[in-house]
Order: sequence, then structure tokens, then C-alpha cells
Amino acid sequence: MEKRESTVSTERELPLVSALETVRNRHSFHMPGNRAGRSFSAEFRTLLTYLDTTELDNTGDINEPNGAVLRALELAAKTFGSAQTYFITCGTTTSLRIALAGAFKPGDRVLIGKGSHLSVANSCALLGLEAVLIKQDVLPRFADGQVSEAEVLRSLEEEEDLAGVLVTTPGYYGENLPLERICLAAHALGIPVIVDSAHGAHFAIKVSGETFGEKNWPRTALSQGADMVAQSAHKTLPALTPASMLHLSQAAIESGRVSSSRLAKMLPVFQTSSPSFPVAASLDFARDFIDHDAAGYVSGLLDLLEEFVAELPPELSREYVAGDDPCRLVIDYSASNCSRQNVFKILDAHEVDVELIDARCIVCILPLDTPRESFIALGQACQEIARDGRPEDSQVEIDLAQREAFLRQSRTSLTLRESFSAESKEMNFRHALGQRSAGVIAPYPPGVPLLWPGEEITAADIALWQDMLDLAYDVRGIKSGKVEVLAGK
Ligand SMILES: Cc1ncc(COP(=O)(O)O)c(C=O)c1O
Repeated sequence: MEKRESTVSTERELPLVSALETVRNRHSFHMPGNRAGRSFSAEFRTLLTYLDTTELDNTGDINEPNGAVLRALELAAKTFGSAQTYFITCGTTTSLRIALAGAFKPGDRVLIGKGSHLSVANSCALLGLEAVLIKQDVLPRFADGQVSEAEVLRSLEEEEDLAGVLVTTPGYYGENLPLERICLAAHALGIPVIVDSAHGAHFAIKVSGETFGEKNWPRTALSQGADMVAQSAHKTLPALTPASMLHLSQAAIESGRVSSSRLAKMLPVFQTSSPSFPVAASLDFARDFIDHDAAGYVSGLLDLLEEFVAELPPELSREYVAGDDPCRLVIDYSASNCSRQNVFKILDAHEVDVELIDARCIVCILPLDTPRESFIALGQACQEIARDGRPEDSQVEIDLAQREAFLRQSRTSLTLRESFSAESKEMNFRHALGQRSAGVIAPYPPGVPLLWPGEEITAADIALWQDMLDLAYDVRGIKSGKVEVLAGK
């Protein structure tokens, strides 16, 4: 479009464009994995602006795969180890909704972790599913409340009439839940396992190097027997936001645990009728990157990471054990006693943006081509964080309280649809003891519910929310000190 003189005003304002331009050269330790486009080749970057089109004879249809779309999906299925793969250009939020709608019907009881992403809570409400919470009694390692293998296995044994199970792995902190035994137990009951692997698309890379991380590279959910897996390629691979994939396994189809035709029917129900070709093309690009270049990038990244960790000051340490995602950098800063707000300020002064900062850890998603200068900037910030703390700013109690929240369940099963549509009222959260929450209460990021709709609000919840607000957390579900509770209690 040619620029024409505006007759209305001489001032032109593009606030969003300007804001985005100012962040594009900062050090990126967060999603998307494309580092503001810097991970794409110059050729692909230029091409991207030309790829936005509609369904044409030459392209095929993303919602009814055929033609070039179908060929791209076949290649992706081979790389990611599925029988069928779909490109979902509205994020894993939509992939999970399609998976749940494809596998279950209203009223079905689905086993899930309390720490499931809030899109799972919303999908259960929308689809009329009963969310059966996995009973947790082991303190989770991190504030995303990941369940343990033993807890899932016990719930599979104890709960009756389950139609399926949905687990999240890896978690935000790169921790992995072993799936093989969970899949065997679920399949013995004849029910499917859906895996929210939003953070694990890069596990399909065939690494070959000598670093500890490569030798302990995590297995994909599909290779451990999962029936359906949703992945946000945009989080950890060079792909555009919100490029997601939904994979279906051969065993799921052959056993009848999931009907592939029913799943296909759900695609246009939940995905926009105008799926984005640039986003889908970036999935094609990410798949090709995995097939040809990614292993070399992982080696380079993990070498840089080892150097970085060796230089960390003693007050900061990396949280990582064999089996975790080697490409996730979780830095425990608790021994520094630096406050969460000051960690933010120091990182910002070094032009470093990270994925999330909780009361104990700084979580960095490492784009696979993270350059040395970004690690240097992060390292300088870490030195400053180490020098900044005061004992009275210790946040260890808050971290503990946040993890303990996952051991509290006022109800073991929730029919969320009623809670979402029930009469509700707003009240000061400090006076909400004993009321039932009308919505999800979730610190954001990462968006993991501390309380689900219909759950009772306890004194420990109120104290935790207050502590988190004091640490400048954005707690979704609490606005200006008010929470929505169910009217008739
Ligand atoms: C564990 C998990 N599941 C699902 C989602 C939703 O993914 P998307 O943002 O691709 O819709 C997220 C997003 O942060 C997530 O962290």
C-alpha cells in the first residue's frame, strides 16, 4: 500500500510497533525460540513476508490437509516420530483443546495434575469434562508443581471410571516426568495418555555430542508410549509464535484409544478458519532445522552453557539433574537473598530478558543459537545479583509455600463448566476464607493454577497470594485485591 498524506492529523503513532522495535536487540532468554527473528536465515526472514496467503491449489489446506500442507505434515510426522501430525497455528492452547475434544465426550473423567496449564482448566470447562486431580503428597521440586511418576500411577490405580489422563512434561523448569510406566498402566486400562509437551518440541533433535547434557538427552513423549502430544515449537525451536503441533501415535490409532477421523473433525472446530501460512511455514522450517542443523547448534549451546555455569558466583547455582532438559537454564538465586524485584531490575539494566523469575529461581529458555555475548551479559547480571542481597529479603519461605500449594486439594474432582458459568461475586481476597473460587488463580507467567475453580480458599492460600503480590507477581484471578468467588458458597 502506498503511503498517502493523512488529512486528519500530522502526528502518526505506532505504539506497538515502536515498543516491539525497542526490544528486538536485547538478550533473549525467553520464548520464542527464534530470538526476534534472528535465528531465521536472512533468506527465510525475507520470504516470511511473502508467505501470507489463503488456501490455494498449490498450497493445500491446513485444516483439511492436502497438497503441500500434507507433504509438510508427513515430513514432520517422520521427524517427530508420530503416525500423524497436525500444524496448529493458534498455539498449544488450541492443540490441547483439539486433543481433549478428539479423545473425550462431555462428562468423561480425565486425570490431570493440579499444575496443568490454565488452558487445560479452560478446555475442561468448555468441553464439560470432569477434571480428576492427581493426589500429590511429595513436595514438587519447583513452583510449577509437577506430579511424580508414583503419584500418577497411584491415581490411575485408585480412581474409578477414568476416560484418560493428561500429564505435562517437561515442566517450565525443564524437569521431566518418566512416561513409560504411566503409559503402560493407562493402556492396560484401555485409556489414552495425552501429553502437554509444550516445552519439549526440541527433544526430537538427534544429538550426537559429548557434553553431559547430550549424553542425557531426554526421550520424547511419543517414544515412551504417549498417544497424543501437543508441542509449542515456538517456545524452543526457530518457529513463529504461536506455532504448535499435535501428534498422534500409531499405537493410539491401532488400539482404538483415539479415533484419527474424530480428531481430524475437531481441527476446524477449534482452529480459526484462516490458519496462518507463515506460522505453518515456520513449522516446516523448524522441522528442516531439526533434520539438518540442530544437533550442531545444541553442541555449541551446551558448550557455552558449561562455560557460563563454571563462572557463576557461589551465591548462584544451576538447578539441573540428569534427565532434565539440558537446554533449560534454571538459576537458583536464593543464597544471594536478592529480592525478586531487584533481580528484575538488575537483569533489565543489562538488557537481559528471561522467561520467568520466581521467589527462588530465574528460568531461561535458551534459543538454540544463543550467542556468547548474551551469556556474557547474563553472567554480569548474575555477579551483580550475588552482591545485592540482604538476609531480611530472603524469599525461601515463599518458594516453599508456593510448592506446598500443590499438596492442598479441597476437592479431588471438579466439574469446571458449572464453576465457570455459576453466579459469582467479587470480594477482597483477604476476606475470602472458606469461599470457593469462581476462577483459576494462577501466577503469570507461567500460568499454572494454584487454585482451580470450585476449590475452597484457605488461610494458607490467602497468605501465599499476599506474599506473591508483595513480590510484584502478576497473579491472574486477582485484580486490584479482589477475587471472584461462587455466590451461594
Ligand atoms: C505447559 C504449557 N502448556 C500449554 C501452554 C500453552 O501454549 P501456547 O502458548 O503455545 O498456546 C503453555 C504456554 O505457556 C505451557 O507453558
